[in-house]
Amino acid sequence: MDKRGKFVVFEGGEGSGKDTQIARLKELYSSRDDIVFTREPGGTNIGEQIRGLLMSHNTSNMDVQGEMLLFLAARSQLIGEVIAPALNSGKHVICNRFGLSTIAYQIYGRNRQQYMDFLKSINRFVVGEYLPDMCILLNVTPSVGIARTKNRTGETTRFDAEEIAFHERVQEGYLAHISEFGSPAVIDADKPLEEVWGEVKKAVQSVIE
Ligand code: TMP
Repeated sequence: MDKRGKFVVFEGGEGSGKDTQIARLKELYSSRDDIVFTREPGGTNIGEQIRGLLMSHNTSNMDVQGEMLLFLAARSQLIGEVIAPALNSGKHVICNRFGLSTIAYQIYGRNRQQYMDFLKSINRFVVGEYLPDMCILLNVTPSVGIARTKNRTGETTRFDAEEIAFHERVQEGYLAHISEFGSPAVIDADKPLEEVWGEVKKAVQSVIE
């Protein structure tokens, strides 16, 4: 097949409802074999092992440079093993998080503006031609998102445990850089789930028929 598939990424802070919305999309597209769902960090055997390291509360002494490079290593593996082959065979890819997360969390959240140029150049090296067609940001007010995560069962990560100011900086980074990752779609994720779902469907369907 010579027509490349479409690449849609979801971004959003903690408690933005990304996982719920993506689960609904999986259900909506359950009969389609031309749509691949994946996530970052993870989506490959190696990437999931890197994810384990990055999310663990046992690695709270990880330095920010190493953290950033591990996210990029997981991304490199995901592109080589999943994203590039799928897009090149005409399949569409819907990915839970991508490069904008690294800018939002490692540069803004971790207060490392001095790493921005390096991050952008290494991200270009890793991502190559596989830039998203659309980036859907579920834009949640950090206090609202964090309150939602507190009501969740299941494991928390090192990132959930960060102070509210960290999550506010993450949101600022998201909004400042979203247009660097394909057509931007910013959806107000403070709204009730059903309203968000309506907008998510519309945005995805504008790219994937
Ligand atoms: P999640 O997939 O459950 O949202 O968890 C992934 C966590 O990793 C989330 O807290 C955001 C963080 N993250 C980064 O800090 N940088 C990145 O580049 C990516 C992809 C995720």
